Amino acid sequence: MAYASFRSIGAYVPERILSNDELSKMVDTSDEWITKRTGIQERRIAAKDERTSDMGANAAKIAIERSGVKKEDIDMIICATISPDYFNMPSTATIISTKLGLSQVTAFDISAACTGFVYIVGIAKAFIESGMKKNILIVGSEKLSAITDYSDRGTCILFGDGAGAAVISATEDKSEAIVDVNTGSDGSYADLLMTPNGGTGSAHDALESDKVCMQMKGNETFKVAVRTLTSDVKEILEKNSMNSDEITHFIPHQANYRIIKAVGDALKMRDEQVVLTVAKYGNTSGASIPMAINDIYESGKLKKGDMLLLDAFGGGLTWGSAILPFMGE
Ligand code: COA
Repeated sequence: MAYASFRSIGAYVPERILSNDELSKMVDTSDEWITKRTGIQERRIAAKDERTSDMGANAAKIAIERSGVKKEDIDMIICATISPDYFNMPSTATIISTKLGLSQVTAFDISAACTGFVYIVGIAKAFIESGMKKNILIVGSEKLSAITDYSDRGTCILFGDGAGAAVISATEDKSEAIVDVNTGSDGSYADLLMTPNGGTGSAHDALESDKVCMQMKGNETFKVAVRTLTSDVKEILEKNSMNSDEITHFIPHQANYRIIKAVGDALKMRDEQVVLTVAKYGNTSGASIPMAINDIYESGKLKKGDMLLLDAFGGGLTWGSAILPFMGE
């Protein structure tokens, strides 16, 4: 039987830093307020001509190189994004495939907002375990600055740009396998976090609608996030007869330090288990978890065989968690 193994990680962050002080000149807010309520100190903003696919391809090149898998042996590319190069088509995954010099490869995007990366870990696992694919490149890439309303202080302080990627490959060794991926959704909470314009659900004519920007009910989202992120992890640990001591690195979606702290405490995670990058990148949606994994990889804290617990939550509402050993070198 084929098992799916998480072989490598890579990430890309744009050069430009947008500080809290700079945002304070754009909307009625302050560095003190943003830091205290969110833990975010700065975020990255992509250049005007830098696309989601450019960032995704940059992260992917690193992930492929670190995986030891030959580029030509990649047989599928999945991209998780809510800020694609083009809404509808072509998919950002197909554009990334061309930027990597790959053709004849299955490529598609998925839309699960901030949970996107956990969803594509699950999709890759299923394709590999079914025997249909052998080496899958998964990419979370976001240019959220393109869909952020910089006159809305409730959202513009939170979001940033960046990309992360990983290679998931077939193995016969069960000890290297992704243990489990648990995902879910509840569409009845759709209005908490959405981009109301630009689609057929828009109140405006889809083709004449306003700029596509995110809108959020922050306070309600906060409470549902803490509840869902916590119950989600309890469920996957219980299902696999594991406890939090067996987890080397807990990697929650980087939305808000207060959410992460509340969830970490509820799950009795020790501080050194909890990975935090929200201060320097803000919320990068589908890119947040792979960027965080890459951060501990590049700082030397992530070692082969370390057990990772991924935990995400986002628009939809969607949620998901995954337990997997990191099998990169
Ligand atoms: N600067 C200063 N004041 C702000 C502000 C800002 N950037 N944003 C909101 N406020 C104000 C509000 O207008 C409100 O003022 P009022 O009391 O005079 O009405 C006050 O701060 C409290 O607002 P509230 O929305 O209750 O604040 P909060 O503590 O919930 O913090 C968020 C707001 C957005 C930081 C927080 O709700 C949050 O992080 N939510 C989750 C967001 C998230 O993670 N989304 C992505 C999920 S994937």
